[in-house]
Amino acid sequence: MQSPIYSSGHDPEKRGASFYDAPQILDRYLTHRHSGVSSPNHVMEEPALLDELGPVAGLRVLDLGCGDAATGQALLEAGCLSYLGLDGSAVMVEAGRARLRGTSGRVDLMDIEDFSAPPSSFDLILARLAFHYLEDLNPILEACHAVLSPRGRIVFTVVHPVLTSYDPGMEVKRTHWIVNDYFVNGPRERGWLGGTVTWFHRTVEDYVAAMLNAGFTLTALRECAPDPDRFDGDEAELARRRRVPLFLLLAGGVHPHLRPLN
Ligand SMILES: C[S@@+](CC[C@H](N)C(=O)[O-])C[C@H]1O[C@@H](n2cnc3c(N)ncnc32)[C@H](O)[C@@H]1O
Repeated sequence: MQSPIYSSGHDPEKRGASFYDAPQILDRYLTHRHSGVSSPNHVMEEPALLDELGPVAGLRVLDLGCGDAATGQALLEAGCLSYLGLDGSAVMVEAGRARLRGTSGRVDLMDIEDFSAPPSSFDLILARLAFHYLEDLNPILEACHAVLSPRGRIVFTVVHPVLTSYDPGMEVKRTHWIVNDYFVNGPRERGWLGGTVTWFHRTVEDYVAAMLNAGFTLTALRECAPDPDRFDGDEAELARRRRVPLFLLLAGGVHPHLRPLN
């Protein structure tokens, strides 16, 4: 595929991606991410995402914060015309390149906040669980809008604002979620996978406003309810996953005559 022209290089010290380069985080993350029924990605986020992506045959796909490019592999198998994954973590990029070896897919090391490309470079942009690492969503959404084809679409998921506003308080073992300072946007530190990660909290309303401000027609807003078909009959796990929303999905299109979300 033709290489888009990027505006600048990668700064390894920058933000969210560096968390994944810390020792052992990659292994822990990939174990968590690909653990079937016990992975919330598998039972909640992925079914909604696949629904919204729809058929990808013939599309030029850009995946921001692509991680180990498992999604890229699936999209290439589903017939997308090209796949470019960008990630700021060197170890993730290595894992992604290993996974896509022998395919036409490509993974580049890059901070997604530095991304730009010529107009009409892509038909579909996806970003799975990467945008809550960004302090300011507006520039990246504007950049996405600028590089999509006239019928292009964007689909992204983030950690649900109920979770990014979760207050760990004094809990030892979590049995309930305490939402706090929901209307206070900004960085929130979390213990996760044995490290400390910074997620940027913003409200559902802010996500929608950012999409609209960037010029997208909003075509879907989903809270990724658990898909009962993905639990292998484990009713207790299904009941557990029904307690708290973990993911928010937004989808939009460039075309002004798309049917907007009612
Ligand atoms: C939760 S992981 C999701 C990975 C992949 N999308 C998936 O679904 O498995 C978040 C990814 O976003 C990447 N990331 C976070 N902030 C980034 C940034 N500013 N630039 C590039 N990548 C970033 C991380 O390195 C990590 O691979």
